[in-house]
Amino acid sequence: MEQLQMTRSTQLKTKPATDQLGFGRHFTDHMLLMDYSKGQGWHAPRIVPYGPLTLDPSAMVFHYGQEVFEGMKAYRTPQGEVVLFRPDMNLKRLNHSCERLSIPQVDEKALLDAIRQLIVLEKDWIPEGEGNSLYIRPFIIATEPGLGVRAAHDYLLLVILSPVGAYYSEGIHPVRIYVEDQYVRAVRGGTGEAKTSGNYASGIKAQEVAEGLGFSQVLWLDGVEHKYIEEVGSMNVFFKVNGEVITPALNGSILAGITRDSVIHMLKSWGVKVTERRISVEELYTAWQEGKLEEAFGTGTAAVISPIGFMKWEGHEMEINGGETGDYAKKLYDQLTGIQRGELDDPFSWRYVV
Ligand code: COI
Repeated sequence: MEQLQMTRSTQLKTKPATDQLGFGRHFTDHMLLMDYSKGQGWHAPRIVPYGPLTLDPSAMVFHYGQEVFEGMKAYRTPQGEVVLFRPDMNLKRLNHSCERLSIPQVDEKALLDAIRQLIVLEKDWIPEGEGNSLYIRPFIIATEPGLGVRAAHDYLLLVILSPVGAYYSEGIHPVRIYVEDQYVRAVRGGTGEAKTSGNYASGIKAQEVAEGLGFSQVLWLDGVEHKYIEEVGSMNVFFKVNGEVITPALNGSILAGITRDSVIHMLKSWGVKVTERRISVEELYTAWQEGKLEEAFGTGTAAVISPIGFMKWEGHEMEINGGETGDYAKKLYDQLTGIQRGELDDPFSWRYVV
C-alpha cells in the first residue's frame, strides 16, 4: 500500500462526558479513507477530518447493499499503552465478508497499520471509565454509479471511531431476549456468516416488535426449520446446561464472533467442557423445565459479555438463574475485559499494542 497521507482537522471537537457516551453517538476528529478502482486496486490511503461524504445518488451501495463492516475496540492500559484486541481476526473476517459480497480483498497488514496510525492520532478520544472504550468501525461501500446489478468496479473503505459505553442500556445487568417466531435472519447459503449491512437491516422489524414487548433483542432461529438457535441481533449466544457450556456451531449462517472464539478458549482453559453443536429451542426449554439451564449469555465486541436473565419463546417464559448474572458470565466478563484493558496477564497473546 502507498504511503498514508494525513490532513489534520483545524477545528477539534469538544469530547463528550464519559458517563454519557451511549453507543455510537459521538465520532472523533478524523477518519481513514482508501479508494479502490479496477485499474489501480486499493490506493490513496489517507487520514482526513471526519465529515460527510459526497456520493453519486446512483452509487451501487444505495441500491443493492454491497457493503461489509467490522467492529473492534481500542483501550488504554493502566501503564498508558493503547491496545487493540485480536485485530488480525477482524481484518481476516473483513476479507471473508468481502469474498461473500464480491468486494475486492484488502491487504490486512497494511490496513492494520493504517488503523494503528489513526488510533495514534485520536488516542485522546479513548474514554476513561469502566466499560468505556474507543469503538473502531471499518467498512467498505460500493461507490460506482449505476443501477445494473453486478459487482461494482469502485469502492471506498472507511474507518471511523466512536468513544462508547455499554451497548445495552442494561449495562452488564441481564437482558431480556425474545425468541423470534416469525421472521428469520439468515438461510443456508445466504449471507449470515458475513458482516454485511443487509443482515442487520432485515432484522430491524423483528427487533422493533420485540422492543415493543419489553425485550432488548431477538434470538434468531435457523431459517430452514425454524427450530435451531443461531444468534442474537448483535451477539453470539452461550448456554450453561448441567455444567456444560453449549453454543451453536458455526454453520455458515452464524457470524464467527471474535469474542465467541475468545470465550471458548477461556472456558476451555478453566477446564470447562464447551460444545459447539446444533441446539434446538425446544431442547433448551426442556433443560429449563428440568432446572438444568443454569446460565445464558451473549458475546460480542459491542456487547462484550451480556448475561441473559429472561427469554420468551412462543407462550413459554424462562427466567434464567433467577434473572441474575451467572458465575461464568461474571468471571468471563472480568477476565476478558481485564485482558482487553491490560489489567490482567495476556496468556493467549491477544493484545496488540498500537
Ligand atoms: C459488534 O459487536 O462490534 C458489532 O458489530 C455488532 C453491531 C451490530 C453493534
